Amino acid sequence: MAVLSKAGVGQILELVQNHSREYLEQADTKPVRAELGVPELRTLMPSILEQESMRALDVVNQLAELGEMGTLRTVGPRYFGFVNGGALPAALGADLLAVAWDQNAALAAMSPIASVSEDIAARWLLQLLKLPQHACVGFVTGAQGASTTCLAVARHHLLAQHGWDVEDKGLFGAPRITTIVGAERHATIDTALRYNGLGKPARVVAADDQGRLIVADLKSALCEYEGPVIVCAQTGNVNTGAYDPIPEIASLCKAHNAWLHIDGAFGLWAAASKEYTHLCRGVEQADSWAVDGHKWLNVPYDSAYAITAHPQSHLATFGSTASYYIMGGTDAPRDSMNLVPEASRRARGLATWAAIRSLGRQGVDDLVSGCCSMARLFATLLAQEQGVEILNEVVINQVLVRFGDSDTHTQAVIQAVQEEGTCWAGGSTWQGKAVMRISVSNWSTRKTDVERSVDVMLKLHRMLGNVR
Ligand SMILES: Cc1ncc(COP(=O)(O)O)c(C=O)c1O
Repeated sequence: MAVLSKAGVGQILELVQNHSREYLEQADTKPVRAELGVPELRTLMPSILEQESMRALDVVNQLAELGEMGTLRTVGPRYFGFVNGGALPAALGADLLAVAWDQNAALAAMSPIASVSEDIAARWLLQLLKLPQHACVGFVTGAQGASTTCLAVARHHLLAQHGWDVEDKGLFGAPRITTIVGAERHATIDTALRYNGLGKPARVVAADDQGRLIVADLKSALCEYEGPVIVCAQTGNVNTGAYDPIPEIASLCKAHNAWLHIDGAFGLWAAASKEYTHLCRGVEQADSWAVDGHKWLNVPYDSAYAITAHPQSHLATFGSTASYYIMGGTDAPRDSMNLVPEASRRARGLATWAAIRSLGRQGVDDLVSGCCSMARLFATLLAQEQGVEILNEVVINQVLVRFGDSDTHTQAVIQAVQEEGTCWAGGSTWQGKAVMRISVSNWSTRKTDVERSVDVMLKLHRMLGNVR
């Protein structure tokens, strides 16, 4: 091919290395906000489909220059937006190798290293998260993908118990599955139910002031329904970080033979920390769990785990075959496409293996507890200022801050903080009130990062006054 010689590959790698190194080294010094927004990039990014080719080096150079200005520095220590993790160095390296090797993780026959690293990483995940060791782990893109995958397994499992083969007959005419969720569930639970043909939740159970599902309400809901039931609970509310009372929920689900799914996108990682593991008490009794790697484990995007306690149902839901697939064998390798909705996909398990290998048990514990103590520091420092209120119980890494008890003022502070660039935090609404949402999810955030960020937040709060 004219566009790329073998020598060209070496130059590309060198160029990418230089750009990436500079970018990462500046994560702590450059503004966190993006310097170019969507309108600017629409103008600057070449958008005409040319007839002629372009040198690969020039393509990558152009992209790197635009991307360095068109990205938020989410990899840095003062990005507190959404619940976005950073990228641990070992995980970053592993992901780069996965791309350089261009491995397809669908079948062990295509990529032995993808198959074996996922197998090992799956076992490590179950140990760290204190889940049943026989559980089945699929490597997917994010928590939404994980919940969708888990609920597909739930659908198969429950309908099979009621004598209906959903893989054979589909959903038309099937026994109705009742779905019960908490009022403060994450939006992706609804999406996952919808993707599985289960429609809107049949019943929304009330939540308390921290977003925890109220057990008494769940109990009466469960008594109203017969037939197959799925209950979706969560460990780690996206705003407050609060945990549903899982032991009580799990025993109710057992008594009613309901499938319990836990959305633990980031909060399930508390199980890996000695100080916070109590928050996850009882999680091992659930039937399925959705957990992200790209949030608290600090594996690069995209990475999550769809875990179920029912390997046979899991395989029955996703297993597929074709005359040209090479599958199984005497030593039963992991053919990943049998555990997730995708067939071909990148070898994202390598980064999880590398992240856990580099941290070790203690490192994962330190990562979780370190972020939590930085969140507490945020809350303590901010609460000392007059007119600044912390609206949640800071149980893990999430802090909800309200400035001047005013929606307008809080929103103005959030916008000013984002524009100033020292740090970045987003907004949300909690119980009808506008709040700044701080999520400490990056391995590299230190005390000085929190102090610098608080200084800027308070300076802007004072400067903007209390505009009601
Ligand atoms: C509790 C919870 N569930 C699900 C999600 C969705 O995760 P993802 O974007 O990885 O699909 C999030 C994202 O923040 C979350 O906090």
